[in-house]
Amino acid sequence: MAIKLIETYVKPFISDTEVAKISHLAKASHELVLSREGAGNAFLGWVDLPVGYDKEEFARVKLAAEKIQKNCDVFVVIGIGGSYLGARAAIEFCTSPLYNNLKKDTPDIYFIGNSISPSALADVLRICEGRDVCVNVISKSGTTTEPAVTFRIFRELLEKKYGEEGAREHIYVTTDRSRGKLKQFSTTKNYETFVVPDDIGGRYSVLTAVGLLPIAVAGIDIDKMMQGAEDAREKFTSSDPAANEAVRYAALRNILYNKGKVIEILVSYEPAAQMFAEWWKQLFGESEGKDQKSLYPASVIFSTDLHSLGQYIQDGQRTMFETVIDFKEPNDRISVPDDPHNIDGLNFLSGKTLHDINQRAMTGTLFAHNDGGVPNIVIEVGKRDAYHFGQLVYFFELACAVSGYMLGVNPFDQPGVEAYKRNMYALLGKPGYEEQRAALEARMN
Ligand code: PA5
Repeated sequence: MAIKLIETYVKPFISDTEVAKISHLAKASHELVLSREGAGNAFLGWVDLPVGYDKEEFARVKLAAEKIQKNCDVFVVIGIGGSYLGARAAIEFCTSPLYNNLKKDTPDIYFIGNSISPSALADVLRICEGRDVCVNVISKSGTTTEPAVTFRIFRELLEKKYGEEGAREHIYVTTDRSRGKLKQFSTTKNYETFVVPDDIGGRYSVLTAVGLLPIAVAGIDIDKMMQGAEDAREKFTSSDPAANEAVRYAALRNILYNKGKVIEILVSYEPAAQMFAEWWKQLFGESEGKDQKSLYPASVIFSTDLHSLGQYIQDGQRTMFETVIDFKEPNDRISVPDDPHNIDGLNFLSGKTLHDINQRAMTGTLFAHNDGGVPNIVIEVGKRDAYHFGQLVYFFELACAVSGYMLGVNPFDQPGVEAYKRNMYALLGKPGYEEQRAALEARMN
């Protein structure tokens, strides 16, 4: 099933005149993506990736995944931000948030190096004890502190466990083609390496080896995932917002932003989409949050969060809208059993599937939130599988690029991320940061 944009629950908040007014900008912004003349145009490799990806490397990813599945009980993925969120999102989306606990013939997968918490690392180290471990370190720059420190610790562990030669068979590196410390190091150590293409930034990289190796290790069909992305690329080619749902979505969210709806909440009724929402938040937050502009991307899982944040969304400040991902086909079918005694009064649900009930909860919530003044954009998609993951990724990447250009920012850089790093390096005494350290110390005293 192809992605479909449903506007029933946003229409009451947007006039045709507003849509007509912004359409020109949306169209021009999409044309800017296609003409490759906009800001950050060196990072548009994701646009044609679904058809132009490196087939030789793709085959090597599959072979490596098979080897890892055969040789390892635990697969440790080290990376942060765009170097881990997509893979984790895909695995949970296509299988389950409980992937590691399911009966399966693929390794358990742990994502680490995405924080500096000693406890998070210690937990994974304990889990690895007495088990065969493979590691995939992913860092485009090769210099990011969190994964670099974590990799040093795991490298030492694997070298102790398997010897230097043996460790080589358990370490896979995904990094820049030719630059950076990690690339140099991998060449010296002769590790198997995969490439983060120069023209694809971290948050747009899930359909490169960055995401594909961990996803394939989990036993997910990466051919189908690329097919989903390819079909989406073909479908979303027109620059006319009336004919391209990704451009239309970009236009709608910009209209709402201009009307003071400064928070966009991504909603799903499937807990398995929680990490997908984390990926989405990075995509939009890091791409658009610049020059004191942009929507704040938030997320909820309903109906869970209807019992925590539902009150606020219904009744709090009217500064938000929701974008609901509606999975039309359930991955599992469970029905409510009949009870002849009906002591719990639930027989009105007898025989109904949980999917049906979930769908009714969604429709009820859409109307309730509309009545509370919250516009809702609905994105209909088939089921949670590799194909639809590929489709959604391409849809949102394209919409994000178009939306960023509509906003007047460069959607492909992230200069703000450096601010904390500079201060952290200064405080840790990294050579070259002496002046900054003195300035921070003066501010602390
Ligand atoms: O999207 C991005 O560019 C970032 O989130 C990066 O992926 C993240 O900062 C990790 O960078 P690197 O892959 O260089 O370690």
